[in-house]
Amino acid sequence: MFAPRRVGRRDNYGMVKGMGENLLVLGLQWGDEGKGKVIDALSGDFDVVVRFQGGANAGHTVQVKEEKFVLHLIPSGILHPGKLCIVGNGVVVDPQCLLEEIDGLEARGIDVSGLILSDRAHVVMPYHKVLDSLREAALGKRKIATTGRGIGPCYADKAARCGVRVVDMMRPATLRRKLKEVLAAKNKELVQLYGAEPIEFAEVFAAYEAYAERLKPYVRDTVPLVRDLLEKGKSILLEGAQGTMLDINFGTYPYVTSSNVSAGGAAVGTGIPPNRIKRVMGVVKAYSSRVGAGPFPTEQDNDIGKTIRERGHEYGSTTGRPRRCGWLDGVALRHAASVNAPDSIAVMLMDVLSVLAELKVCVAYKLNGQEIENFPADPDHLAEAEPVYETFEGWQTDISGVRSIDKLPRAARDYLAAVEEVTGARAEMVSVGPEREQIARRTCDG
Ligand code: GDP
Ligand code: IMO
Ligand code: MG
Repeated sequence: MFAPRRVGRRDNYGMVKGMGENLLVLGLQWGDEGKGKVIDALSGDFDVVVRFQGGANAGHTVQVKEEKFVLHLIPSGILHPGKLCIVGNGVVVDPQCLLEEIDGLEARGIDVSGLILSDRAHVVMPYHKVLDSLREAALGKRKIATTGRGIGPCYADKAARCGVRVVDMMRPATLRRKLKEVLAAKNKELVQLYGAEPIEFAEVFAAYEAYAERLKPYVRDTVPLVRDLLEKGKSILLEGAQGTMLDINFGTYPYVTSSNVSAGGAAVGTGIPPNRIKRVMGVVKAYSSRVGAGPFPTEQDNDIGKTIRERGHEYGSTTGRPRRCGWLDGVALRHAASVNAPDSIAVMLMDVLSVLAELKVCVAYKLNGQEIENFPADPDHLAEAEPVYETFEGWQTDISGVRSIDKLPRAARDYLAAVEEVTGARAEMVSVGPEREQIARRTCDG
């Protein structure tokens, strides 16, 4: 029997049938689970797609035939012409990145007229990016290996109440006053603490004034907008970034990102009341990957890890860094399922495992001679934890053409059943290749 206790009950298994019910889609591991592909696949059934946290640290890939799109700030629903795509108040927005993304998409013929930027979103400033890299350098061996996109420093300023929001950037007088005040403090930090060069006010002000001018058409107060959408019964798809194991509260702290990745963050990052978010879908990669530093008990720093990396093209969509790869971690997954209670799951990159003769799933950790099933809060414990594995038979056959879950080979279905058991949720989609169409779905009797 599969060891980790289920978090859900079979009668809780829900399927995305009744469209029109707001759905939250989020990652259950360390990011890069394939959320972009799932959002793209579901967008057609929803009126609106909204991002609620993170920033340009995200890289969400959608592959449409030969064309590959990597979205960083704009919701992955944007490839559906005219789709309303909201960058919510919980996102930290680098205006330069956002404009580059808009320009890049338009140059490829994508209609971005449905894009909306919340006026309450915080703005990533140049000093956030500089401080991100200086703080990393100061940490030396203990560095987080961030994406360098200024995410941590921007969220820190938000919490310290000295952040610049989109609404502030839109008013030159406010931008001038805030930037003057904040920059004085940041330059002290840069020069006195890190011995770095100070940042010039005039340059930053001019650049951000210009960004504001260009972004103005997209900016809205999204609170009344969301209220109106809900009142009209429009359906909203919420797009998570990163993954639960990178959540600032529930992830492998301090080796995490700086936002609330898990389901609880979706309401505060959008203004959609929690009781209006009807269902949660967890996105699970069929194995584990992690980019950046931090303990990773099931990491396979060997030929298995290499095979997975090459077959899954596991190189960061944002930074190009090789991702660390390993076996599926049932202990971490169960922890992620506990804090998100997914109604359904999408299991991604199953095809990557097709060449392996046997597969392992971590069902417990061994720590100081004892087996534990709960994910430890202490990173030192996690670093010492020895995975206890259950072995599964590989299917060793090409599954990239399968479009129905019940047509998957028996060994693949057994593996899938283990993922369902540990998450307590039914797999509604199984992704069998990077392309848009490469999804096996649940048929009525499957
Ligand atoms: P996200 O950040 O969760 O959206 O995931 P990423 O886009 O960073 O990483 C997922 C990667 O896997 C991308 O390169 C996708 O094109 C690719 N991908 C998604 N689903 C599948 C799949 O089922 N099979 C394979 N081989 N690749 C996939
Ligand atoms: P998507 O949305 C994978 C990781 C970084 C680093 C840590 C903190 O594509 O799944 P940050 O720059 O956020 O301060 O870095 O989090 N990280 C991600 N890893 N996918 C992501 O996003 C990530 N966003 C941040 O590598 O370890
Ligand atoms: Mg990614």
